[in-house]
Amino acid sequence: MPTHTIALLAGDGIGPEITAEAVKILQLVETRNDVRFDLKPALFGAAAYFETGKSFPEETIAICDKADAILKGPIGLSHEESKKIPVDEQPERGGLLPMRKRYDTYANFRPVYLPRALAHFSPLRPEIIGDGIDFIIIRELVGGLYFGRKDSGIDDAGRRYVHETLEYNEDQIRRALEIAFQLAQKRKKRLHNVHKSNVLKSSVLWNEVLEEVRSDYPEIAVEHILVDAAATYLCLEPTRFDVMVMENMFGDILSDQGGGILGSLGLMPSACIGPEKSYYEPSHGSAPDIAGQGIANPYSMLGSVAMMLEMSFDMEQEARNLWQAMQAVFSAGFTTPDLARRGDDEKKISTAEFGDKVVEELGRLPPP
Ligand code: IPM
Ligand code: MG
Repeated sequence: MPTHTIALLAGDGIGPEITAEAVKILQLVETRNDVRFDLKPALFGAAAYFETGKSFPEETIAICDKADAILKGPIGLSHEESKKIPVDEQPERGGLLPMRKRYDTYANFRPVYLPRALAHFSPLRPEIIGDGIDFIIIRELVGGLYFGRKDSGIDDAGRRYVHETLEYNEDQIRRALEIAFQLAQKRKKRLHNVHKSNVLKSSVLWNEVLEEVRSDYPEIAVEHILVDAAATYLCLEPTRFDVMVMENMFGDILSDQGGGILGSLGLMPSACIGPEKSYYEPSHGSAPDIAGQGIANPYSMLGSVAMMLEMSFDMEQEARNLWQAMQAVFSAGFTTPDLARRGDDEKKISTAEFGDKVVEELGRLPPP
């Protein structure tokens, strides 16, 4: 029987609560499929820092290095609490970015998926949502401003200054674009290239490389859109998009806008794909304000499980089943308090109850 080792990093804030629901799903998936998951819990983020002095401690690195995939909860603390940790060890800079770099997870898939069962969560008007919204942002994840050279100090005039560099080479751009073209090929054969070539030279190079990659994908219709205009059209006409590709920082910002379109970042799972190892995580933060209350929706974490089943373990059908099971729970009118929108007609249940309902629905679908 195939066995997959999964490093399980629950993270901070609501992380442990929503990770517990992911475990329930994985256990059910084991009973329905010819597969075993060897779950290896490890500390990561602020939880790891307070225990070991590091956000991405050696023991966790060793577990992740050996794992077939990593399932990671959100990390981070409130603005005030973060100050208790030295800047370079704060969970984002000390944990998350080093993890992305270590596993070279260059392609970040962020689906913005709003089927009918979820439409009521969106702040957009029904005529804008139409038959539903379904696009994927491919965000380059290990280049650009995030990983460029940085320098700060005092300039000749005695002023504090900082330099942060937006760096890309053609190979980094090419491999991210390849992923986007391949995805467009599998979907609707349409690709929106998001850039800022009227100002940034990095976008000029990006677009040059795009023209080269494009010649291998003659069937794909490419549309170019400036990042600022893309922000507008994501609100006005989100259904025009299918696959979007962009550099790291643009993707950070526009994918959160994707969460706004859905009505919550809690509806945004993601996959971070590297050449050898991939990790899966909700796109949102650790929501310390609602942590420990059992009111956070586990959808983003369970969606990340679905993406892991599909992308790391080739379990496409079971991934589809899991998506369907989650829709079924929403369609039946259940939600968690953090997402509640409709008012009294929604049946509010806890994080764990939501997970149980998904388990129930998935259990009802025929195993692959
Ligand atoms: C994300 C997050 C991270 C990022 C933070 C936590 C460093 O916002 O995954 O989008 O900026 O990439
Ligand atoms: Mg972000």
